[in-house]
Amino acid sequence: MDFQDIIIKKRDQQQLTSQEISFFIQGVTDGSLPDYQISALLMAILLNGMTPEETAVMTKEMANSGATFDLSSVPGFKVDKHSTGGVADTTTLILAPLVASVGVPVVKMSGRGLGFSGGTIDKLESIPGFRVDVTEEQALAYGRQSGIVLMSQTDNLTPADKKLYALRDVTGTVDSIPLIAASIMSKKIAAGADGIVLDVKCGSGAFMKTQEDARALAQVMVSMGRHVGRKVTAVISGMDQPLGMKIGNRLEVLEAIEVLKGHTKGDLLEVSLLLGAHMLLLANRVPTVEEGKALLAKQIENGQGLAKFRELLEQQGGDVRILSDESSLPLSPCALEVRAEQSGFITHMNTAKIGRASQETGAGRAYKGQPLDFGAGIVMEKRLGDPVEKGDLLATVYSGTAEKAASAAEILRSAISMGPETVSPPPLVLEIIS
Ligand code: URA
Repeated sequence: MDFQDIIIKKRDQQQLTSQEISFFIQGVTDGSLPDYQISALLMAILLNGMTPEETAVMTKEMANSGATFDLSSVPGFKVDKHSTGGVADTTTLILAPLVASVGVPVVKMSGRGLGFSGGTIDKLESIPGFRVDVTEEQALAYGRQSGIVLMSQTDNLTPADKKLYALRDVTGTVDSIPLIAASIMSKKIAAGADGIVLDVKCGSGAFMKTQEDARALAQVMVSMGRHVGRKVTAVISGMDQPLGMKIGNRLEVLEAIEVLKGHTKGDLLEVSLLLGAHMLLLANRVPTVEEGKALLAKQIENGQGLAKFRELLEQQGGDVRILSDESSLPLSPCALEVRAEQSGFITHMNTAKIGRASQETGAGRAYKGQPLDFGAGIVMEKRLGDPVEKGDLLATVYSGTAEKAASAAEILRSAISMGPETVSPPPLVLEIIS
């Protein structure tokens, strides 16, 4: 097969055959295709799309490009969850212990931050001692013992996605529905869970900016999961403002602990309970979403969710003092307050820009492999629609140097708009697709 013919075919808006897609993914995996040809096909896919059939074939080929994780030795219906990426989106650290605490195992591989969006693995690594690199044998043993494992993706899982993702990141080919769907679902399928809840973010701080695009992405992923025998639900949730109030690795861990202690309510808690309830529903642990939410809320009240989080920390070497002593998760030394320059209402937040401000503090990476400043980030004080008096505190920025704090504060200031009239907060959950 001549790969150039495949590129030309997609360039000319024709459908690729299963054999052509399989040739493509094999060539990506074994290194026989050069980066420039792979990138050309990725761009043709971004511009001309793929049919659901093409996307399904590509996903399966990517899922099988490396090892797959066999969770069958962990008893019970295993559930996984994946967010398409947002800002202050710390739901995994809250819902995984809650769901595991009611006997539904969560053995979850997570990723690092990507662009303006945070990653669970970076947050976990900000906890002193916490080991995210867990072997498959260890993960299965932990899964059987505690019912909860949060780990980074093992090296041999979906090598085709690793290669494609790195190329997409630098060739302007990230925001393509079939490419995102195949990337996410190949990893989720290879990671072996029986049920998957997808949190498809939509809004100014998400890869999908419109509900229409978010729905299209959700539909493709749900049908792909079904096709390979997994139970999948997609929740389309709003990302027109940061989900929680704290952005940055240690800050988000601290907020998750506060939520698990029952001290912090609000949107982060609401979305965590909803996603967790859908996980319980897929596992047939509860008959309705409402009962799932109530059960998980009870696990916060009775301390069982926090106890499960402690078990996770102990199991993977994390310092349990973080649960009782905030100073064991130190923040970066340069704190800078951002105050309102006028009175009015918060009318708009450019959430991706807020994510970029957090990146600027040192909490996120500007390039692959860049070391993070775990104590850096932003504490937000206001939400959309809130009234503000001139001089009110809008946010506090934490960074390792005064220069970085100042430039992050400038980006943050330009991301928040104010006006004379209030706006109603956007809906937290837009749609559920199952
Ligand atoms: N998350 C992924 O894992 N892959 C994408 O392509 C986008 C978000």
